[in-house]
Amino acid sequence: MKLRFFKSFSLVIIFMLLAASSSPAAEIQKPGNSGKGILLVTFGTTFDEARSAFDNIEENVREAFPETPVRWAYTSEIIRKKMEKQGNRVNSPLQALKEMDEQGFSSVAVQSLHTIAGFEYHDLVKTVRKFENEANSIKDINIGGPLLNGPEDMEKAAEAILGFIPDERKKDEAVVLLGHGTHHPANSAYAALMWRLQTEDENIYIGTVEGYPGSETIVEQLKEKQTYSAWLLPFMSVAGDHAKNDMAGKESDSWKSVLSDAGISAKPVLKGFAEHDAFVDIWVEHLKKAR
Ligand code: CO
Repeated sequence: MKLRFFKSFSLVIIFMLLAASSSPAAEIQKPGNSGKGILLVTFGTTFDEARSAFDNIEENVREAFPETPVRWAYTSEIIRKKMEKQGNRVNSPLQALKEMDEQGFSSVAVQSLHTIAGFEYHDLVKTVRKFENEANSIKDINIGGPLLNGPEDMEKAAEAILGFIPDERKKDEAVVLLGHGTHHPANSAYAALMWRLQTEDENIYIGTVEGYPGSETIVEQLKEKQTYSAWLLPFMSVAGDHAKNDMAGKESDSWKSVLSDAGISAKPVLKGFAEHDAFVDIWVEHLKKAR
């Protein structure tokens, strides 16, 4: 009985949160005289609490472009389907562009909220190019690149990471950032950034969930340096499924477990980098160039 009450009570809370988070849709900003619009594109997340990172992105973008309407699109079909079941429809990039065309936008700046220029980013570019060749009244569409899109971004991202390390971390403790990783050549951006970071602080590492380097490689390096304590931070825009499970989960193959098994105590921090303005600024700068 009690449990049922709590279940329905938490459902009400979730519903209220969803209603609150989707309220901006009720007052959709129409294209102004300039006809300009912004489309923010992310993979998406099914974690409600992780969406605070998206709120932070939107806040920063609106502050930089107060006159320009902002729309969102999620590239992940699985996440879009799940959101729709919850009564929260989110467009795909193509659906969003079609909708913006119907709403009368004449110019759209599409901002990739990806970390590296991997498959996801290139798929977005393909979608945009295809849309441009179809009959529509949007005259120009420009794309803002992902977070790590050149030497300047590397510099800014490294600085942002140094500012995002918890204050409680001691110098002899390692900081292991966990990127998504990919078998796309753009995976090299993680190693490039790690090299750049290690010139400032030799105890900072970047590993990946699905690319190189994986947990074994990082553990080997930590052992070599006789480091037995490490902070684990997601190097992903949101602390979603990968951060919760692959990084900090209880399963034997999570980064936390692999490190613990090697005698390295791991302290996970569940905060996506998009919750920090210093990272969001990099995307906002790309957006300025794309407009
Ligand atoms: Co993934």
